[in-house]
Amino acid sequence: MEVLSNVVSSQVKLHAEWGGVVPNLAAREHLKNIIPVIESCLREASISPEEIDLIAATQGPGLIPALLIGTNSAAALSYVWKKPLIGIHHIEGHIYANFISDKICVISNNQFLRPRRIRLGRTIPKQTSNSKFQNTKQADIKFPVLCLVVSGGHTQLVLMKKHLDYEIVGQTLDDAAGEAFDKVARILGLGYPGGPAIAKRATQNVERGTKITSRKTRNAKRGTWSENHIPQYALRVLRLPRPMLDKKNFDFSFSGLKTAVLYLIKKNEKLLQDENFVNEVAHEFQQAVIDVLIAKTLAAAKKYDAKTIMLAGGVSANQELRHQIGEAIKNDLPLAAYCLPPTAFSIDNAAMIAAAGYFRWKELNKKERANLINSWKNMQASANLKLS
Ligand code: KG4
Ligand code: ZN
Repeated sequence: MEVLSNVVSSQVKLHAEWGGVVPNLAAREHLKNIIPVIESCLREASISPEEIDLIAATQGPGLIPALLIGTNSAAALSYVWKKPLIGIHHIEGHIYANFISDKICVISNNQFLRPRRIRLGRTIPKQTSNSKFQNTKQADIKFPVLCLVVSGGHTQLVLMKKHLDYEIVGQTLDDAAGEAFDKVARILGLGYPGGPAIAKRATQNVERGTKITSRKTRNAKRGTWSENHIPQYALRVLRLPRPMLDKKNFDFSFSGLKTAVLYLIKKNEKLLQDENFVNEVAHEFQQAVIDVLIAKTLAAAKKYDAKTIMLAGGVSANQELRHQIGEAIKNDLPLAAYCLPPTAFSIDNAAMIAAAGYFRWKELNKKERANLINSWKNMQASANLKLS
């Protein structure tokens, strides 16, 4: 599969002013941007509408005012261009970001495989120097696949026994991982979106060159400082909870972790001005999330005998998560393949929806394909669409 163009019109700056997505503002911006985006997408791909075989659009779940702009525009194009139209579940799109290239990212049997080249409108992912490169065909992705979906709205472990077949074996009981990143970033005064901001500060913690105590040492020293005042020397022993690790199931919960950060800050508001303190909290919070994600994913992979473990969703752009889960798989499940999308396809993008549309199209018979010519008539955006 080759991506000819993948135009992303980001509204991050606009929503950052409000500290999060404002639905009506989002819809207004979508409306303003949709035609220019479609035009530049066709231009970058150097194709005309006649050359298109299928239109795929996100049907849900999500914010209805925003979804409607996409589904209505896609329906109008399907009618005018006389092209089949298919509705895609947002999470299915995230999962199929892993299948976009036939040169996929896989760590398998200690080999790190990454895309040689994905032809995108703007981005060509770079190779990293310390990796071994090798082309892997999509056929190499072996089922069952266990996909850790981590985004702003979802945190799920999805088991796929074959293409387009989904069983949610675990999910968050409250906040999604990305939502927790965003909320904690707001508490720490790091702005929106929180994920990249926290990841950056967490790295500064490491780059500062101070010795980070081992988890064992941190545990041992836990509670040595007063809850009302954390002296500088004690910053290294800051320890946040790892929720749900004691539970045997594969569910998550991040709201308590966020509240732990909130209480910590409430008691030590002045420390927010201390850059080192903020970096340390960002580091510890990110590590707490990663520890839980890794533990649950590996446990589920063992139980369901997953041959491939995948990452998907905006939080899968997190470099520490990508690296640490890869290491854990290598050590704990050396026979499993590890697959992750290039970061440009981790965060919301249109190519992933097109990829899912392609796989759905492949499964349809002649009659079902022909019916899609008329699907614009009943294309409905759905805020709570279920993955099926
Ligand atoms: O999938 P996505 O782009 O949109 C949704 O479907 O929600 O995910 C957005 C989420 C946001 O919560 C954002 O803070 C988080 O992904 N995110 C990250 C990183 N980049 C984006 N979280 C942690 N580390 C990152 N590098
Ligand atoms: Zn998303």
